[in-house]
Amino acid sequence: MNATYKKPSGTPLVEMKDVSIAFGGIKAVDHASVDLFPGEVVALLGHNGAGKSTLIKVLSGAYQRDHGDIFIDGEEVAISNPRDAKAQGIETIYQTLGLADNVDAAANLFLGREILTKWGTLDDVAMEAQARKVMGRLNPNFRRFKEPVKALSGGQRQSVAIARAIMFNARILIMDEPTAALGPQETAQVGELIKELKKDGIGIFLISHDIHDVFDLADRVSVMKNGRVVGHARTEDVTKDEVLGMIILGKCPPAAEPGPGAMLS
Ligand SMILES: Nc1ncnc2c1ncn2[C@@H]1O[C@H](COP(=O)(O)OP(=O)(O)OP(=O)(O)O)[C@@H](O)[C@H]1O
Ligand SMILES: [Mg+2]
Repeated sequence: MNATYKKPSGTPLVEMKDVSIAFGGIKAVDHASVDLFPGEVVALLGHNGAGKSTLIKVLSGAYQRDHGDIFIDGEEVAISNPRDAKAQGIETIYQTLGLADNVDAAANLFLGREILTKWGTLDDVAMEAQARKVMGRLNPNFRRFKEPVKALSGGQRQSVAIARAIMFNARILIMDEPTAALGPQETAQVGELIKELKKDGIGIFLISHDIHDVFDLADRVSVMKNGRVVGHARTEDVTKDEVLGMIILGKCPPAAEPGPGAMLS
């Protein structure tokens, strides 16, 4: 494995440059730079407290950064709240999914963005038709349109959450631990969903503790430690052990591009 680090060519869909954010004296994210290309999955890895969620919350507008810039399609953008992020096509799926448990899939897809009839009432027919269209693409086996989502399996719930995110033209999807609560079969199903999204050119930041998932799904990894980026690597150029070495020791293998958090050897 003597490959040198090579990024996809072209303009990144997302570029976060030199982003820092502190909470009280704690540097949760310290001069971190990451990028993501269209149709690419980049896994953000690191121990608990490494700063992964904080970094992506800066992108999703949930947190305001103290320092750094964000570029979408090469253009600098202002993201200071979740609305700004959504306007840029950035959608986040948190581990909790944020579904309304007592209503069905269609109602969840349109939560807060309902389609109305010309009389101002809810257009359930139009919403269900759209829901079937989107879900049919993502998860063709899904049939349980009339049931409250709390009755669905973990994998089905995940597909509803993903459908909701991409329904409104998301181009950048952030998934924080999407498979943490799922069994092997459902994890595979989420993997299939992710492959569908890639075909559409959607870029995905995937936060996961599961190194096997990461190697199955991610094109590149960016590893963080103590708020700093240890390095970036293409999954095909590194071994699982090397990535674990990045996570645990901050040690960058030869095929990775070191960041400010890399241990000097
Ligand atoms: N809202 C907050 N207020 C204060 N400190 C915070 C806040 N959010 C995160 N932190 C701190 O910032 C650091 C980074 O946390 P973060 O949640 O980003 O880590 P993480 O890599 O997502 O970890 P995990 O794998 O446990 O989810 C930690 O020290 C955490 O305690
Ligand atoms: Mg986290």
